[in-house]
Amino acid sequence: MTEAADLTVSNLNAWYGESQALHGMDFNVRRGEVVTLLGRNGAGKTTTLRSIMGLIKRKTGEIRLGDEELQKRLPEYIARRGVAYCPEERGIFASLSVDENLTLPPVVAPGGMSLDDIFALFPNLAERRGSQGTKLSGGEQQMLAIARILRTGATILLLDEPTEGLAPVIVKQIGQVIGKLKERGLTVLLVEQNFRFASKLADRHYVVEHGRIIDTIDAADVAASMSRIENYLKV
Ligand SMILES: Nc1ncnc2c1ncn2[C@@H]1O[C@H](COP(=O)(O)OP(=O)(O)OP(=O)(O)O)[C@@H](O)[C@H]1O
Ligand SMILES: [Mg+2]
Repeated sequence: MTEAADLTVSNLNAWYGESQALHGMDFNVRRGEVVTLLGRNGAGKTTTLRSIMGLIKRKTGEIRLGDEELQKRLPEYIARRGVAYCPEERGIFASLSVDENLTLPPVVAPGGMSLDDIFALFPNLAERRGSQGTKLSGGEQQMLAIARILRTGATILLLDEPTEGLAPVIVKQIGQVIGKLKERGLTVLLVEQNFRFASKLADRHYVVEHGRIIDTIDAADVAASMSRIENYLKV
């Protein structure tokens, strides 16, 4: 695996056409950490992940991986630096089997997980190797989407609401996987609406509102900050 570096986002602004979605995002994720972006619908969480991945054209500010500036780089370059994005809509190939989905993505960095590694981490997928993407449950699709990016050798994972719409038992399994990825030294930037889920995994939480970070809560302070967090997230 390539050595992961710290991800630092400074004064990041981003626009869709004339409409500004990010207004000076500032946060960092040290290598090996799990960090969440929390916040209400439309706060700018997805836009932040897409900006890091180079998928938003109009933006200013800094996105650094270690000492390297990525803000003006193209998605292909950023992927080769070991950053991978798992969108909310998951982006697996519906007509292809589990095995085909796992062998198709290009290896972008050395040290991608082998199929054996993947199936040890996702036993459910091992049982469904020949099944088409469309035949998988929502939970299996989400696991496949994460498994695909692990194949590429990525060390920094940007996960957008991986538990959305999934049954509690599947949510728990996804939590276990993220915990194991952290043990392996991977870095995870996680967008979540399910705070109970996120709070068990994360080293730190950033609260996003109107395209900026309005609060930072370390894992150790979660219990004491619960009413504040609920207030941020309530609709
Ligand atoms: N493709 C787009 N074109 C124009 N505006 C967009 C587009 N995508 C998002 N926006 C706007 O940018 C802002 C931030 O949206 P974003 O999707 O980043 O929020 P989010 O925090 O991920 O919300 P959610 O919890 O609903 O996923 C919102 O005001 C949204 O309406
Ligand atoms: Mg979103």
